[in-house]
Amino acid sequence: MYPFPGLFILFVIPSICKGQHETTCNVVPKDQYIEVGSDTEIVCQTSCVHGKIFWTLNNRRIDESLSNTINSSHTVLTLRNFTHHSATLQCHSAATKQVLGGTTIKTYSKPSNISCIFHYDNLKMNGIPPLFTCNWDHQIDSSLDINYTVLYASVGDSQTQSEICNSKVTTCTVKNTSPAILFGDNATVTVRAKTAAWEVNSKPEYEFNTNHILKMSPPVLTVTTFSDHLWVQCNRFLSSENCHCQVKYSKAVKESTPEWVLNKTLESYQKGFNVTIEKVESCTNYKFAARCALVQAPWSEWSHEKTVLTKLNKRHVKLRLWRQVAEPEKNGVRKVHAMWTEIPSACQGTFTYTIKQTPYKEHVTGVNYTDSLCGNSTCDVDVNQDAHRINLTVFDNEALLVEDSVYVPAIGESLPQVTDIQTSTLKGRILVSWKAPVQPVSGYMIDYTHNGNQYQWKESKYTNATLVDLLDMKPYNITVTPLFDDKTGHGTQALQICSRVGDPGNVTIIDVQAIDQSARVTWTVKSQEACSGVVVNYTVFYGTQKGPQLNVSVDSTKQDILLKDLNPDTQYSVYVNATALTGTTKSSERFFETKTFDPRLMTALIVCGCITIFLVLSVGLCCAIQWKKFKEKPVPNPGLSTLALWPSTSHQKRTQPFQPFSNPSESLCDMVYTEEAQRTPTPPLATGCNGNPASEQTEEYIDPAIVPAPDSQNEDPAELVETHHPSSPGESTALLSSTNTPLSPYRSQSSVESPAPRTSKQCKRVPVKQQEKTPPVTVYVTLDMFEQGQGR
Ligand SMILES: *[C@@H]1O[C@H](CO)[C@@H](O)[C@H](O)[C@H]1NC(C)=O
Ligand SMILES: *[C@@H]1O[C@H](CO)[C@@H](O)[C@H](O)[C@H]1NC(C)=O
Ligand SMILES: *[C@@H]1O[C@H](CO)[C@@H](O)[C@H](O)[C@H]1NC(C)=O
Ligand SMILES: *[C@@H]1O[C@H](CO)[C@@H](O)[C@H](O)[C@H]1NC(C)=O
Ligand SMILES: *[C@@H]1O[C@H](CO)[C@@H](O)[C@H](O)[C@H]1NC(C)=O
Ligand SMILES: *[C@@H]1O[C@H](CO)[C@@H](O)[C@H](O)[C@H]1NC(C)=O
Ligand SMILES: *[C@@H]1O[C@H](CO)[C@@H](O)[C@H](O)[C@H]1NC(C)=O
Ligand SMILES: *[C@@H]1O[C@H](CO)[C@@H](O)[C@H](O)[C@H]1NC(C)=O
Ligand SMILES: *[C@@H]1O[C@H](CO)[C@@H](O)[C@H](O)[C@H]1NC(C)=O
Ligand SMILES: *[C@@H]1O[C@H](CO)[C@@H](O)[C@H](O)[C@H]1NC(C)=O
Repeated sequence: MYPFPGLFILFVIPSICKGQHETTCNVVPKDQYIEVGSDTEIVCQTSCVHGKIFWTLNNRRIDESLSNTINSSHTVLTLRNFTHHSATLQCHSAATKQVLGGTTIKTYSKPSNISCIFHYDNLKMNGIPPLFTCNWDHQIDSSLDINYTVLYASVGDSQTQSEICNSKVTTCTVKNTSPAILFGDNATVTVRAKTAAWEVNSKPEYEFNTNHILKMSPPVLTVTTFSDHLWVQCNRFLSSENCHCQVKYSKAVKESTPEWVLNKTLESYQKGFNVTIEKVESCTNYKFAARCALVQAPWSEWSHEKTVLTKLNKRHVKLRLWRQVAEPEKNGVRKVHAMWTEIPSACQGTFTYTIKQTPYKEHVTGVNYTDSLCGNSTCDVDVNQDAHRINLTVFDNEALLVEDSVYVPAIGESLPQVTDIQTSTLKGRILVSWKAPVQPVSGYMIDYTHNGNQYQWKESKYTNATLVDLLDMKPYNITVTPLFDDKTGHGTQALQICSRVGDPGNVTIIDVQAIDQSARVTWTVKSQEACSGVVVNYTVFYGTQKGPQLNVSVDSTKQDILLKDLNPDTQYSVYVNATALTGTTKSSERFFETKTFDPRLMTALIVCGCITIFLVLSVGLCCAIQWKKFKEKPVPNPGLSTLALWPSTSHQKRTQPFQPFSNPSESLCDMVYTEEAQRTPTPPLATGCNGNPASEQTEEYIDPAIVPAPDSQNEDPAELVETHHPSSPGESTALLSSTNTPLSPYRSQSSVESPAPRTSKQCKRVPVKQQEKTPPVTVYVTLDMFEQGQGR
């Protein structure tokens, strides 16, 4: 600006001043507080340096135009509209950059946004409000100790401000306000903030009408319930002014619900008001609150919330009476299951339900059934084959509350009926649709049950319905009945449908039979639920711990499988998956171990070994016995024997001479021996008719003796057969008797039985074969002869 004088000062003045003045440098004033937005001037004393200076504010260089050099020792900086909350200002020598001095500037603001109210404390009351509260805003350094003073002045007398309240925070309440305050007048309030460093008054003045800042006490609310409406009474305080009030109410539930507000304006003479509220639900808790305000004044607080339970409104009772008619029993009596919606338990009252069935035409008073079958929402009654009305009457403390009735058609009555019911499931719901009957109907009732006791039912105007609130995986029986006039048509039942078809039932591996290279796995499926999925196929997963997991699938008809190509002596795990279209069930895992060898092979080997050993031993034993017999058996001397008569029959059976031959130890080997030698002459006798070992024995060991000397008289083979009935002496006699031999000494003896027809039938084939051979004969042998035979 003035470059030449500046230069002059820089070079000349310091030399002049040196001797005359202090050579100090400084910045004044120090630590300044200014009101925010105001202007200030700072002086830098530059006696100690020559030349130019410059300023920095918070280390930023300030435009030189703001700085004014008055003379060689004074430079003035002018700051306008200063808004920094806190700033550091420094003066530097331009030549040396040396700081010549510094200062801080802090700002403060005026209190603002003052608002005051006259109000009442918690006690509801009339009269002069006991409390006067002012609030204001003030931004200050919290470290400062600050005192606020509230100054009150009536507008007519604004010069006489009176301090009414002191505070250290930005709110101040005066208790027991001066009775000198005239309500209805205008007044001003000023807030003064004071610290050790500065003092400031709020501006502009806050002016108000005292009535406009008067906050009433909350009104008093009473709510009375009636069966069809609510009566709300609201009484205000401060009844000398016009005011308006609000009543708000809503359902007392946790979730958010709609809230209603009623507005009401009261003239100065009105103490309160009443409102009637009709649109409320029955037996529901509602909460109410009210508030009032003088004109232009702030609202009072809400009154204490009042909760009331509404009464049961007759018009809200929807019994939805319905019935399910069972198939008629033999005597034509039908069970009718009446069902209705119970009056909610939230409703206070003693409700009784009465069911009456009336024949439809005659309108005869029926019997009222209030027995134990009648519950709060169901009742089972019997009706005959005729049409009936089922009447439901509900009493509230013995006063008639509501009535409803439903029609039960007669058996075979010509009535509309729906056809072609289709059902499907969707996300746990059942969709039902049907074909309307030809006759016009007003709607349809759809009832559904999963257990025959608990029914749900709903009405539809269309030929479809969506059934909700179903239990999961339950089979539902659904009946659709058309409705018309005050009657119903015949119900049509849909095919049972599951609310959801689940996984197949539990799969259990019941057996694993493993051999060396294969294993048979058997399993079962048990489904507890009626709505288990139908198995489509089974997959058997198996594998060793290390090896890959293999799988085999079989269709649903099989419940076992042979796993092949297993490694011997290895542990395997196996489980079975049952797959249905709706899901898969997995059995628990089962472990088994394959055998080292095929156990069947082992068994076969062991059995063969045993048989071989047994055969070898048997042959050896026989040979030994034969050898022994051959060596040791004494040969009777025929010379010592004499001829004698044959002993009696019974005796004959136990004849001693035969005894050696019935000795089992001998006969075993004798059989081996005689079969070879003697079977041919009389095979049919031995095997054809009788398996009795005793007879066989007799036969076989008699044969060698009798064959050489047959009895020519005994020609009837049937007679011979009887010899194989050794059970009684009478039968035994037949051995020796013959109807064709009248000369027989035993003829007079009769058989105990008459077995001829039976035996002849049994042995029809015997005679044929017999005739081919030498005719069998009965012989009497003597010991001599036997000895002869034995000797052979
Ligand atoms: C410079 O100006 C200030 C203020 O005007 C004055 O007090 C001071 O004496 C002056 N100094 C000189 C050397 O004139
Ligand atoms: C604030 O007021 C208290 C007394 O009310 C006084 O002791 C204190 O010095 C005052 N502080 C200031 C900064 O005026
Ligand atoms: C009172 O204040 C209101 C504004 O709040 C103003 O309109 C009115 O004229 C004032 N009345 C008097 C008497 O000053
Ligand atoms: C009641 O008054 C409030 C404001 O005072 C208003 O918002 C509301 O719409 C009013 N309600 C009715 C029903 O008039
Ligand atoms: C049947 O109803 C009549 C009134 O309709 C009543 O007087 C009578 O006691 C009832 N009978 C039974 C058994 O509840
Ligand atoms: C009917 O409801 C009442 C309460 O309203 C209850 O005490 C009673 O046990 C219920 N009776 C039946 C059969 O459910
Ligand atoms: C469902 O209907 C079928 C066929 O009419 C019947 O056998 C079954 O008992 C009914 N089940 C239930 C729970 O009513
Ligand atoms: C019944 O079908 C009509 C159209 O035919 C459809 O608009 C309606 O949503 C269906 N109602 C139900 C309950 O499925
Ligand atoms: C088993 O049935 C399911 C479902 O139908 C099918 O996806 C799968 O391929 C079948 N598995 C075999 C091995 O047939
Ligand atoms: C069954 O085994 C075959 C190979 O044999 C494999 O491709 C298939 O993925 C297996 N199936 C399952 C369900 O693991």
